[in-house]
Amino acid sequence: MSREGEFLPIYTDKEGSAGLIAAQHVGVLGYGAQGRAHALNLRDSGVSVKIGLYASSPRIALAQKEGFEVCSVATCAQTCDLLACMLPDEIHAQVYTKEIAPFLQSGQTLLFAHGFSVYFKQIQAPEGVGVILVAPKGPGYALRENYQQGSGLFALIAMQQNNAQHNAKELALSYACAIGSGRVGILQTTFKHEACSDLFGEQAVLCGGLVHLLENAFNTLLEAGYPGELAYFECVHEIKLIADLIYHKGLARMQEHISNTAEYGGLVSGTKLVDAQSKARMQEILGRIENGDFARAFMQEAKQGYTHLRARQSALQHSPLETFGAHLRAHLFK
Ligand SMILES: NC(=O)c1ccc[n+]([C@@H]2O[C@H](COP(=O)([O-])OP(=O)(O)OC[C@H]3O[C@@H](n4cnc5c(N)ncnc54)[C@H](OP(=O)(O)O)[C@@H]3O)[C@@H](O)[C@H]2O)c1
Repeated sequence: MSREGEFLPIYTDKEGSAGLIAAQHVGVLGYGAQGRAHALNLRDSGVSVKIGLYASSPRIALAQKEGFEVCSVATCAQTCDLLACMLPDEIHAQVYTKEIAPFLQSGQTLLFAHGFSVYFKQIQAPEGVGVILVAPKGPGYALRENYQQGSGLFALIAMQQNNAQHNAKELALSYACAIGSGRVGILQTTFKHEACSDLFGEQAVLCGGLVHLLENAFNTLLEAGYPGELAYFECVHEIKLIADLIYHKGLARMQEHISNTAEYGGLVSGTKLVDAQSKARMQEILGRIENGDFARAFMQEAKQGYTHLRARQSALQHSPLETFGAHLRAHLFK
């Protein structure tokens, strides 16, 4: 367990060798949220990049318009030193088996932006092929925007195995610096810690706990007869104001910026909602992530055409929360 006062070292551009990644031919597989940002930042840092996509991808035209050579994943695997796997996590295994593994040679490197497929053993690269992680802490558009503004996004790096020629850590640091993360900070972790903490944060807080909290709070006010507009402002819209305070000042100093009434109310009611039982359920969620149950369920969901995900998206889209939200956002963000 990390102890207070024991911090991980934070690497920056000073520790990353720009020459190392600049000497590699990089194939960025996928041109979505992460792939596009990685490719553009790498190229602006002087790295030679081509894009690997499937033949009917609608993103081929965009990548070509933005000046990239686009080819198949298999061609990238045959011609590039480093393959940055910016594909949806649940298809890594099938693309790897069909289009990468048959061509892999000792000295090449596979790079991931999330540890899912490596930690949950969807992919097991042969000896002599490097396996590294460079995971920016934020979405692709922020990675690109920050880079263009002369800054970057914090990134995590991890090393599973060296390739036959290069030290995995030096390569990961060099790549992280080339996408701009060396301008702010790079933390070294493991595939397990990145994969599991990232999934846990999404499930317990960002995309699970928080979303369902907002939805239930909104519905509680609506069902008690309060106007939907008020319910939306109080339980959904204002989350940004608190999130911004936490982002810039942290939890403790956020409290200094809210009223005593809000602070006292938060204290007496927050602990009623999130109590020891909620913590026990969080531990259960973490356990299901660590033992691979979540990964297996997600792969099954993908295999069955994402039926639960599609149903949830449709229900949310047609919910009163979205109806009132869309109505208010049309006035707020004209
Ligand atoms: N999004 C984030 O905030 C974030 C942050 C950190 C790390 N990551 C990680 O980054 C990786 C990529 O995620 P993402 O959010 O960037 O995904 P994404 O936006 O869905 O983009 C995936 C890209 O892969 C392409 N693709 C799909 N199937 C393909 C195939 N068979 N062959 C070649 N290309 C294919 C897609 O093409 P089409 O568009 O034509 O379908 C798309 O360009 C994941 O490992 C994810 O966990 C994401």
